Amino acid sequence: MDAIVLLKDDHKTVEKLFKEFEKAGEKAYKEKQRIVEQVIRELTTHAYIEEEIFYPTARQDVPDTAEHVLESVEEHHVVVWMLSELRDLDPQDERYDAKMTVLMENVRHHVEEEEQEWFPQVREAMGRNKLQELGERMEKAKADAPDNPLALISARK
Ligand SMILES: [Fe+2]
Ligand SMILES: [Fe+2]
Repeated sequence: MDAIVLLKDDHKTVEKLFKEFEKAGEKAYKEKQRIVEQVIRELTTHAYIEEEIFYPTARQDVPDTAEHVLESVEEHHVVVWMLSELRDLDPQDERYDAKMTVLMENVRHHVEEEEQEWFPQVREAMGRNKLQELGERMEKAKADAPDNPLALISARK
Protein backbone atom coordinates (compact mmCIF):
# COMPACT_ATOMS: atom_id res chain seq x y z
CA MET A 1 0.00 0.00 0.00
CA ASP A 2 1.38 3.36 -1.08
CA ALA A 3 1.75 5.71 1.92
CA ILE A 4 -0.08 8.62 0.31
CA VAL A 5 -2.91 6.41 -0.94
CA LEU A 6 -3.27 5.06 2.59
CA LEU A 7 -3.45 8.54 4.10
CA LYS A 8 -5.97 9.70 1.51
CA ASP A 9 -8.13 6.64 2.23
CA ASP A 10 -8.13 7.61 5.90
CA HIS A 11 -9.15 11.14 4.94
CA LYS A 12 -12.09 9.72 2.98
CA THR A 13 -13.18 7.57 5.90
CA VAL A 14 -13.20 10.60 8.17
CA GLU A 15 -15.06 12.74 5.63
CA LYS A 16 -17.74 10.06 5.44
CA LEU A 17 -18.17 10.21 9.22
CA PHE A 18 -18.38 14.01 9.07
CA LYS A 19 -21.19 13.76 6.50
CA GLU A 20 -22.99 11.28 8.76
CA PHE A 21 -22.69 13.68 11.65
CA GLU A 22 -24.02 16.54 9.56
CA LYS A 23 -27.00 14.43 8.51
CA ALA A 24 -27.84 13.25 12.02
CA GLY A 25 -30.82 14.93 13.62
CA GLU A 26 -30.20 17.62 16.17
CA LYS A 27 -31.60 15.45 18.94
CA ALA A 28 -29.97 12.20 17.77
CA TYR A 29 -27.60 12.35 20.73
CA LYS A 30 -26.74 8.65 20.83
CA GLU A 31 -26.02 8.52 17.12
CA LYS A 32 -23.92 11.67 17.20
CA GLN A 33 -21.92 10.33 20.14
CA ARG A 34 -21.30 7.06 18.30
CA ILE A 35 -20.08 8.96 15.23
CA VAL A 36 -17.85 11.22 17.33
CA GLU A 37 -16.31 8.18 19.04
CA GLN A 38 -15.45 6.77 15.61
CA VAL A 39 -14.04 10.13 14.50
CA ILE A 40 -11.84 10.21 17.60
CA ARG A 41 -10.56 6.70 16.92
CA GLU A 42 -9.93 7.30 13.21
CA LEU A 43 -8.26 10.68 13.62
CA THR A 44 -6.10 9.62 16.56
CA THR A 45 -4.81 6.61 14.64
CA HIS A 46 -4.31 8.67 11.49
CA ALA A 47 -2.47 11.46 13.30
CA TYR A 48 -0.35 8.84 15.06
CA ILE A 49 1.00 7.27 11.87
CA GLU A 50 1.53 10.67 10.30
CA GLU A 51 3.39 12.05 13.30
CA GLU A 52 5.42 8.92 14.04
CA ILE A 53 6.32 7.91 10.50
CA PHE A 54 5.12 10.02 7.59
CA TYR A 55 5.95 13.54 8.78
CA PRO A 56 9.48 12.79 10.06
CA THR A 57 10.31 10.84 6.90
CA ALA A 58 8.95 13.59 4.64
CA ARG A 59 10.91 16.17 6.57
CA GLN A 60 14.10 14.19 6.30
CA ASP A 61 13.81 13.16 2.66
CA VAL A 62 12.21 16.34 1.32
CA PRO A 63 13.71 19.19 3.37
CA ASP A 64 11.60 21.72 1.45
CA THR A 65 8.52 20.45 3.25
CA ALA A 66 9.83 21.24 6.75
CA GLU A 67 7.63 24.30 7.07
CA HIS A 68 4.54 22.34 5.97
CA VAL A 69 5.35 19.62 8.47
CA LEU A 70 5.71 22.06 11.36
CA GLU A 71 2.48 23.83 10.45
CA SER A 72 0.71 20.50 10.15
CA VAL A 73 1.79 19.47 13.63
CA GLU A 74 0.34 22.71 15.02
CA GLU A 75 -2.92 21.98 13.19
CA HIS A 76 -2.92 18.48 14.69
CA HIS A 77 -2.34 20.10 18.08
CA VAL A 78 -5.60 22.04 17.86
CA VAL A 79 -7.48 19.03 16.50
CA VAL A 80 -6.32 16.55 19.15
CA TRP A 81 -7.19 18.89 22.00
CA MET A 82 -10.64 19.38 20.49
CA LEU A 83 -10.99 15.60 20.20
CA SER A 84 -10.13 15.18 23.86
CA GLU A 85 -12.74 17.80 24.77
CA LEU A 86 -15.38 16.14 22.60
CA ARG A 87 -14.59 12.83 24.24
CA ASP A 88 -15.55 14.24 27.64
CA LEU A 89 -18.46 16.39 26.49
CA ASP A 90 -22.12 15.41 26.90
CA PRO A 91 -23.75 15.30 23.42
CA GLN A 92 -26.61 17.28 24.91
CA ASP A 93 -24.29 20.12 25.88
CA GLU A 94 -25.08 23.22 23.83
CA ARG A 95 -21.42 23.43 22.80
CA TYR A 96 -21.27 19.89 21.37
CA ASP A 97 -22.43 20.54 17.79
CA ALA A 98 -20.54 23.82 17.61
CA LYS A 99 -17.34 22.16 18.76
CA MET A 100 -17.79 19.41 16.22
CA THR A 101 -18.46 21.98 13.48
CA VAL A 102 -15.23 23.80 14.24
CA LEU A 103 -13.34 20.50 14.43
CA MET A 104 -14.67 19.54 10.99
CA GLU A 105 -13.66 22.92 9.54
CA ASN A 106 -10.16 22.49 10.94
CA VAL A 107 -9.75 18.95 9.67
CA ARG A 108 -11.12 19.75 6.21
CA HIS A 109 -8.73 22.67 5.88
CA HIS A 110 -5.83 20.52 7.08
CA VAL A 111 -6.66 17.65 4.71
CA GLU A 112 -6.90 20.03 1.79
CA GLU A 113 -3.45 21.44 2.51
CA GLU A 114 -1.95 17.99 2.83
CA GLU A 115 -3.52 16.67 -0.33
CA GLN A 116 -3.17 19.77 -2.51
CA GLU A 117 0.01 21.38 -1.31
CA TRP A 118 2.55 18.99 0.01
CA PHE A 119 1.68 15.35 -0.65
CA PRO A 120 2.33 15.84 -4.39
CA GLN A 121 5.71 17.34 -3.51
CA VAL A 122 6.50 14.34 -1.30
CA ARG A 123 5.33 11.87 -3.94
CA GLU A 124 7.59 13.40 -6.52
CA ALA A 125 10.64 13.44 -4.28
CA MET A 126 10.23 10.00 -2.71
CA GLY A 127 9.12 7.85 -5.58
CA ARG A 128 7.08 4.72 -5.75
CA ASN A 129 9.20 2.16 -3.92
CA LYS A 130 9.93 4.32 -0.93
CA LEU A 131 6.26 5.26 -0.60
CA GLN A 132 5.29 1.62 -0.84
CA GLU A 133 7.69 0.64 1.92
CA LEU A 134 6.54 3.57 4.04
CA GLY A 135 2.91 2.63 3.52
CA GLU A 136 3.53 -0.89 4.77
CA ARG A 137 5.20 0.41 7.91
CA MET A 138 2.34 2.83 8.52
CA GLU A 139 -0.32 0.17 8.03
CA LYS A 140 1.38 -1.98 10.68
CA ALA A 141 1.90 0.94 13.04
CA LYS A 142 -1.85 1.57 13.18
CA ALA A 143 -2.07 -1.24 15.72
CA ASP A 144 0.19 0.72 18.10
CA ALA A 145 -1.84 3.93 18.02
CA PRO A 146 -3.01 5.19 21.43
CA ASP A 147 -6.68 5.52 22.38
CA ASN A 148 -6.12 8.86 24.02
CA PRO A 149 -5.60 11.72 21.53
CA LEU A 150 -3.56 13.53 24.17
CA ALA A 151 -0.96 10.76 24.03
CA LEU A 152 0.08 12.00 20.58
CA ILE A 153 3.29 13.97 20.04
CA SER A 154 1.31 16.94 18.70
CA ALA A 155 -0.66 17.24 21.96
CA ARG A 156 2.45 18.49 23.77
CA LYS A 157 2.79 22.17 24.47
FE1 LIG B 1 -2.29 15.52 9.13
FE1 LIG C 1 -3.76 13.46 7.06
